[in-house]
Amino acid sequence: MARHSAVVVGAGGISGAWFPPLLKEKVEIRAIVDLRLETAKARAEQYGVTCDISTDLKATLVKHKPDFVVDLTVPEAHCAVTCAALEAGCHVIGEKPMASSMAEARKMVRTAEKTGKLYMVSQSRRWEARHEIVKRVVTGGRIGTPTAVNCDFYIGAHFGGFRDEMPSPLILDMSIHHFDLARYMAGLDPVAVYAKEFNPKGSWYKGDVAASCIFEMSDGVIFTYRGSWCAEGCHTSWNGNWRFIGDKGTLICENDQTPHGQALAGNTGFHRPMKDVAIPAARVKFGGMHGALREMLAFLKTGKKPQTECHDNIKSLAMVFAAIESSRKGKRVTISAD
Ligand SMILES: NC(=O)c1ccc[n+]([C@@H]2O[C@H](COP(=O)([O-])OP(=O)(O)OC[C@H]3O[C@@H](n4cnc5c(N)ncnc54)[C@H](O)[C@@H]3O)[C@@H](O)[C@H]2O)c1
Repeated sequence: MARHSAVVVGAGGISGAWFPPLLKEKVEIRAIVDLRLETAKARAEQYGVTCDISTDLKATLVKHKPDFVVDLTVPEAHCAVTCAALEAGCHVIGEKPMASSMAEARKMVRTAEKTGKLYMVSQSRRWEARHEIVKRVVTGGRIGTPTAVNCDFYIGAHFGGFRDEMPSPLILDMSIHHFDLARYMAGLDPVAVYAKEFNPKGSWYKGDVAASCIFEMSDGVIFTYRGSWCAEGCHTSWNGNWRFIGDKGTLICENDQTPHGQALAGNTGFHRPMKDVAIPAARVKFGGMHGALREMLAFLKTGKKPQTECHDNIKSLAMVFAAIESSRKGKRVTISAD
């Protein structure tokens, strides 16, 4: 069978996580494009990729006509790069966050519709096996009907660089993962949010790097999120520590351990009798970017729409920008991706 072809745009830090799965899946990399030619060249050499190296995206797409583009540029460039690729007749798989504003994200969705091409965001944490297990337990009724979801994320992260200077570094750069996971694992969509961003005393960040958010989700479920990138000691997992409460039990997923939970085993007593929730075996074989890439390849072969196709992913991005708006206005904000 003919190999699928791609052009990789953006050869910075995260591209190191993309070349191995691209090569493993035998994707024909026709070109690497970066504003910095040396960066693209270095990546090609590092992974033994023989291909065109360029700073000119549009000319490269005309020349190579790849099946899809892998957009690994910085968030501010996602809209221009992805729209150029879609307009050139390519499907796109791009890094999170989809865009640096809702206006840009909406433009990307419209361009995908207009061109009839697929645009999916790689929201890599969706392809962690334990998150798929949680989704099956929670949405499969093993703790009854979900009523509340909590996520705590506390890490003292000394990045240096752009995150130290940007506004809302936590919500914009990290919480998008957790907000998307809340939607994915509980099978819910966002309705409204009340949020407070803040910059803790002693913070080494310029922008607000901590937040407490209360999201109203579909079916009346409340998702409470507390997070900070400026919390020294006793770190949570990067995936966050989660509690899902249903009307018949509770599921916990913490510290990247196998989830565990309890469900009702009877209807009498001050504390009702409980039994352990049965945790099913893992199904996800390809994690992170590899899992996302395989959904793009499956789409190319079968037409099956990836779970993080842009019409879905923009709902997670809308949670990000609504939380920021709520904090700035000091009031509840309704969430709309339209
Ligand atoms: N999924 C994850 O867990 C995860 C982790 C880290 C980063 N990311 C995301 O990956 C993306 C890239 O992050 P990074 O850490 O690799 O950043 P980076 O700054 O290391 O690399 C970005 C590269 O894109 C290039 N670039 C910027 N604008 C361009 C344009 N218009 N055309 C061509 N090249 C351009 C830059 O020259 C640079 O080499 C971001 O959206 C980031 O949020 C995701």
